[in-house]
This record gives sequence, structure tokens and C-alpha cells, in this order.
Amino acid sequence: LHIDLLQRVEAYLREYLSKNSKSVDRFPANSLARTSSISSPDEWLFEQPDPMAASNTTLDKILWRKSLQLRDRQEYWEASVEGRRMVESRRSLPAFKQRDSVLTAISKNQVIVISGETGCGKTTQIPQFILESEIDANRGALCSIICTQPRRISAMSVSERVAYERGEQLGESVGYKVRLEGVRGRDTRLLFCTTGILLRRLLVDRNLRGVTHVIVDEIHERGMNEDFLLIILKDLLSRRPELKLILMSATLDAELFSSYFCGASVIHIPGFTYPVRSHFLEDILEMTRYRLTPYNQIDDYGQERTWKMHKQIPKKRKSQIAFVVEDALRAADFKEFSTETQESLSCWNPDCIGFNLIEFLLWHICENEGPGGILVFMTGWDDISSLKEKLQIHPIFGNPDRIMLLACHGSMASFEQRLIFEEPASGVRKIILATNIAETSITINDVAFVIDCGKAKETSYDALNNTPCLLPSWISKVSAQQRRGRAGRVRPGQCYHLYPKCVYDAFAEYQLPEILRTPLQSLCLQIKSLNLGSISEFLLRALQSPELLAVQKAIEYLKIIGALDENEYLTTLGRYLSKLPMEPKLGKMLILGAILGCLDPILTVVAGLSVRDPFLTPQDKKDLADAAKFQFSRDHSDHLALVRAYEGWKKAEEESAVYDYCWKNFLSIQSMRAIDSLRKEFFSLLKDTGLIDGNPSICNSEGNDANLTRAVICYGMYPGICSVVHNDRSFSLKTMEDGQVLLYSNSVNARERKIPYPWLVFNEKIKVNSVFLRDSTAVSDSTLILFGGSISKGDIDGHLKMLGGYLEFFMKPVVAEICQTLKKELA
Ligand code: CDP
Ligand code: MG
Repeated sequence: LHIDLLQRVEAYLREYLSKNSKSVDRFPANSLARTSSISSPDEWLFEQPDPMAASNTTLDKILWRKSLQLRDRQEYWEASVEGRRMVESRRSLPAFKQRDSVLTAISKNQVIVISGETGCGKTTQIPQFILESEIDANRGALCSIICTQPRRISAMSVSERVAYERGEQLGESVGYKVRLEGVRGRDTRLLFCTTGILLRRLLVDRNLRGVTHVIVDEIHERGMNEDFLLIILKDLLSRRPELKLILMSATLDAELFSSYFCGASVIHIPGFTYPVRSHFLEDILEMTRYRLTPYNQIDDYGQERTWKMHKQIPKKRKSQIAFVVEDALRAADFKEFSTETQESLSCWNPDCIGFNLIEFLLWHICENEGPGGILVFMTGWDDISSLKEKLQIHPIFGNPDRIMLLACHGSMASFEQRLIFEEPASGVRKIILATNIAETSITINDVAFVIDCGKAKETSYDALNNTPCLLPSWISKVSAQQRRGRAGRVRPGQCYHLYPKCVYDAFAEYQLPEILRTPLQSLCLQIKSLNLGSISEFLLRALQSPELLAVQKAIEYLKIIGALDENEYLTTLGRYLSKLPMEPKLGKMLILGAILGCLDPILTVVAGLSVRDPFLTPQDKKDLADAAKFQFSRDHSDHLALVRAYEGWKKAEEESAVYDYCWKNFLSIQSMRAIDSLRKEFFSLLKDTGLIDGNPSICNSEGNDANLTRAVICYGMYPGICSVVHNDRSFSLKTMEDGQVLLYSNSVNARERKIPYPWLVFNEKIKVNSVFLRDSTAVSDSTLILFGGSISKGDIDGHLKMLGGYLEFFMKPVVAEICQTLKKELA
């Protein structure tokens, strides 16, 4: 049957090819795009006067006149009352003292590196110094300065701040551009943008025509995009000798960057911070012990439970203390305290019912410490939003007369961003729940207390090749110090680290650069889409180049999934994938899901793979939880079970019954919410590539067809496949590389005796003694052959390759036919 099917498909393709032979080679441009935005260059970043439109002398005159206008405008502002006040406050920043030396260094060198403590004025002042000096020299209309930021929120908030400092509206001389959003005008000379946006501009304008200064900010973070950009800029510098490059870093390892650019000069801006006292978990427990120790244990100390007395807890109680430490560690991981601790807390103060360690510390600071804002570093958006929600309904934290409660993360609305910098009314304490974005990118004044959970994960989806599914991991020593430093900007402060000192001691000194720790597939796609030649040669020129093996693996993977051809050229599929800022396999699913008309379930699957597993398995209720998940299974697929769970959640949301629904089905509310908002994000990303035109019904015509969705999942997961081998009573699983593998116990397929399909496709395998597969979906032979590519290197290899290569282009008509056959076969 399969061979027959293949032959029919092949015949169809041949016919199609001969009919459309001319267009095949040039397929890429618009066969898939319903709108044209993908092939059109990203909007230019600066409007340059058109040299053809005016003769040289008129052009010079125009520019000269514009420059004079800019200078007049600037002088007028500086002479005004508000302008004078603003200049005064800017002068108080440490960066101002280095203004002249920075400007001299820039005029004498092509590359300089500037380092300085967070908040010293690098991001807001240095680009302004350059702009002002150009305007003063009557070159205002000739300069164009680009300053890149790793995150969109900092590009937006900083540009707004700089425009304000210059007494202008955003979009006059200062503007910003991030994905899908931007404000800039004809006369914008200083543009803040994300690193991804500059990379996109390089795609259409290799020489950055018209740009005079490039400032790369936050290079100490060593993000993949920044490291990537530096390689490209290093090449560009020799082609554009008059281009100036300024690198800015919040840490002192500037030498590394300086030597990468052949000894570029380094300027350090000395800062000033007040001392900050560190408390590690053991100190926090010491400090709060008598409150955390279960009530009955301290009863024999009599009514007067003073701090001093409880310092002398006898030895026999040490084990109880150990229990408390354990409990606190659990609570530090965003879980509630145990029932026992809860009880003692509630006897003592009913406000603390249901608290975890963060909430307890917030409460402790509000009750016992002096004034000053509290900055809480958490791992990600989902943790932040759930804590915020919980605090908002609390009698103390939810009271706006006492607390100004804010969140600060990559995907927040811009009005919320502005609130972060606002000063609260007197007597009101500011509490900010933030991701590591507040470590160096965003300076929040008036913070005196920091709570550091010690973990971080990537949360923004903005960067060109960000993978949104990183799990929280321990931060580095440098990050921990940065976090602590945030407490000492306005007065001596305190920092509470929610982990023991010994854990801190085990932190790595610096975080490994992203390029060395994350898969390189997306980066390789970018290199190809920017036409930068051989991938491995290009990466050899990086600040710290990744291992050759890792590069080879990535290239091999891209070839297998059909993003690169045999000769390492980008295929059409590859070109589309390079526009999608996510793992290629997820991008593949979205693309095919959109083409085949089952985008809706695929959006759920892809979003589900990007967040923490929404199916919870509490240790003590594992069986119940697994059974709850199994209810959603009808198709031998964990991915489709999630699709059902999400559909139910959506319905429950309409009926305002999500809490009940999640509780009953052991689903994580935060994960479900995150999935909901990621779906929207992914939808707009797809729109951005021009693959869909925003009409949801077109891309969902086949949304209810579970087998089609299964096929798309298979398309994305390949080559993650294993074969199902049935024996008398059950089945076993095998992959080519690992031999026997096992399923995670919460997989719906693990509860089955039999799987009526010969294959499972999976997203991820993990080695712990044996190899385990996390989520899996069962697929048939024909689905695998048609959507997965070849598995056996037999005689049909040739057919398969051809199919694999052309399927993307001819999907729509062919697949309609294939689906019919598949459906018949599966029925
Ligand atoms: O980049 P760096 O960390 O060196 O500092 P910055 O972001 O340039 O901030 C310099 C000063 O401007 C700090 O005192 C910030 O609090 C202030 N600032 C502000 O008030 N509002 C903003 N939107 C950004 C910065
Ligand atoms: Mg900065």
C-alpha cells in the first residue's frame, strides 16, 4: 500500500514539476507567502536623503540646514528651565565625568569598550554624548547612531527616557525599533533597537549604509545574538573604516572584548554604591527561626518567645531545625510551606497563611525593616504572574495605600514599564517582581532590598534565535553580585539570597556564553540566511568559538530536517525557519500546520513544548494525576492529550471555572495561561513571516482532524522516532542509537498495553540510567514515510528524499490527496 501511495504521489509531483518547471528553482520567493512581507526588506532604520533626487550641492545645503536646526533645537532646550534642570541631574551620573575621555577615545579609535557599574549612565548617556557632540559640530543630520539592546523592553524604555532627557517626543531625534513595533521619524538620528533587528537589517544592507556609530550594549551577558553580531561587525569594520563601534559592559571583563578587537581601548566608569548586607538561606532561617519553628515545639519556652531564647534551641531539637531548613528550601522553590509550618505561622499571624519563603520575606521586610523598595528576582514570567496574583488579594500586599506592586519582565505592557520608574507616594512601598532583566538592563531607583531566588531562565521571544523552552538554572556568581548590587543604589541595603552559602560557593564564576551552551541549529540557519559563507569557518571567528562537533551536529540536523541541502545551501523551508525565532522543529510544525489547515491544535502543541509541563504529578497523588491525564487521551498521543486539555481549559475560562478545571485535572494554571499567551505570540510570528494572512479560519479548515495534526507533529519531531515492538502482553520501544528505551511514567502511552501503531515520535529523550522519552505521539508507517523522511536506507530511499525535498512546496494539493488516503487507511 505504501509503495503504491508513494508512486502515486511521485507521479503527481512529476506532473506538477513538468507543468511548473520554470518556477521550481525560484519557488522560494512567494509560493508559500500569501503576503509579501517576507521578501520585502525589513523597513529601513533611517531615512537617508535620496542622493539621486538632488544634486550634491543641494543635498549638502539640505543637510547643513537640518544640522543647524538640530543644533538650535538642542541649545534652546538646554537654555530652558526644565532643560537646565535635566542637564543638572544628568551631570550627577558617574558617566558624565568621563564624557570628554569617551568622546576623545571615539574620535581617535574605531572600536572602544566601556565598562561601568549598572546605573552609572552607560545606556542613557553615552549614545547621547555622541549625538550631542555631532550636533554641536554641525554634523547632526549626517550622523546615525544605532544602539542595540538584548531585550525589547529595554530598547523601548531607554529610548523613551532619552527622548525625555532631550525634551522631545519619541520619534524626533530619538526612536526605537523592536519586532512588530517601533517609533521613529524622518529626522531620527539615534535609534535603540534589539540586536535581532540590527541582524535583520544586515540581511538587506550588508554594509550598514549611512550608519556612523554602532553601540552594542550589555555585551557582558554574552547572548548568542550579541556574539554573532560581533563577528559580523568585526568583518564590517575593515570594509567601513569610518564606522565607529562602541561596546558597553556592566562587568569588568572588558579586556576579553578589547583583545578580540585587536586591543581596542577600554574606558572604565567608576561607580558608587552603598554597602549591601548579604543574607543566605541559613541566615534567613536564623533570623526567622522562631516564627518558622512549629508552635508546639517552642511552647515550653513559656509565653515570652523572644529571639534570644530561640537562639539557644537545645541539641535534641536540631532534627526539627533540619526539618525547617528542608521546608524553607522547598518554599524557596516557589512552593508553599508544609502544612505544619503553615499552622504555626497562622497561629502567630493569620496574614501569613499559604505563604512561601518569598512572601514570608516580603512580609518580614514590610513589618520589620525601614523604608525602601523591594526587588524580587524570580525565574520567569509564569512564576511572577502567579505570585503577583496571589499577593494582589492579600490584605497587606493588595492594599494600594501601603504597597505599589509591580512586575518587570520581557513581555509586559509599556504602561506597566513606565510605572517601574515612578516614585510611590510617601508611606507606600514599591515591590517589583522581576526576571533577570532587572539585573543590568533596567535600573530601578530607590530599591533597598533585594530577594534573589538564585535561578534564571530566558523569557523573551524577541531575539532572532531565542529558544523559549529553557528550564530555570542556577545563576553565576557575577549575576548574584549584580543582583545584590541593585539594593545599594540609594542607601545601604540588604540582600536575601534564597539558597545556602555553600550553593553560592558552587556557582560558576561567569555564566557560560550562550553560544557555548545552547544548540546551534538556529544560529547556523541565521548564518546561512545572512549569506555568511561556510558555517564552521564563520564560527571559528567568534569570541569563543563553539566546539567543531557541536557545529557539525547542528549542520547535520538541519540537513536531516530539510532546512539545508546536501551542499549546505538554505532550502525554502530553511529560509522560512530562519525567520521564526524558535527551535527549527517547532517552526517546522507551525509552518506545516498553517499550510495544512490545522494550525489551531499545532499552536497548542508548540506552545505546550515551550513551557513547563502543564500536567502536574504531585508525588503523593501520582496515580490520580496520571489517570487524570489519561482521560484526555484518545489518540495514543501526549501532544494531542494536551490539545484536548487546552480546549477544555478554554471552555472553562469562558465559564470562569479555570481553577476548578485545573484542580480537577491536575493542570498547572500558570502553564495553561502561558500556553494561551504563547499561542497568540506564535500566531503573530507566523503572520510576520508572511506565511499566513491573519485569517484564523483559513489555517484551521482541518483543525478537527486528529490524524492530520498527528502527521504535522511527526513532521516536526523527526528524526526523534522509535519503533514499537509488540510482544505477548505488552510492548517495548527501540531507537536506532540507544536500543531499548522507556517512556516517562506520566506519558499516556505508558498506560497502554498495546499501541496500534508501529512508531512513536518524540520531542526529547533524557538519559538517567536508561533512556527515557518524555512526550510521544504514535504514528503509522505512511505518516512517517510521508512526513518524517526516510528511516530505512532501503531501495525507496531515492523516492523518499525527493518527497522530503518537495513536499513543502507542493503540500496543499498533494496533501489533500494524501490525507484522503491516510484517512481511508486509518479508518
Ligand atoms: O546603562 P546603565 O546601567 O549604566 O545606566 P542607565 O540605564 O543609563 O541609567 C542611568 C540613570 O538613569 C539611572 O539612575 C536610572 O535610574 C535612570 N533612568 C531612569 O530614570 N529612567 C529610565 N527609563 C532609564 C534610566
Ligand atoms: Mg544599561
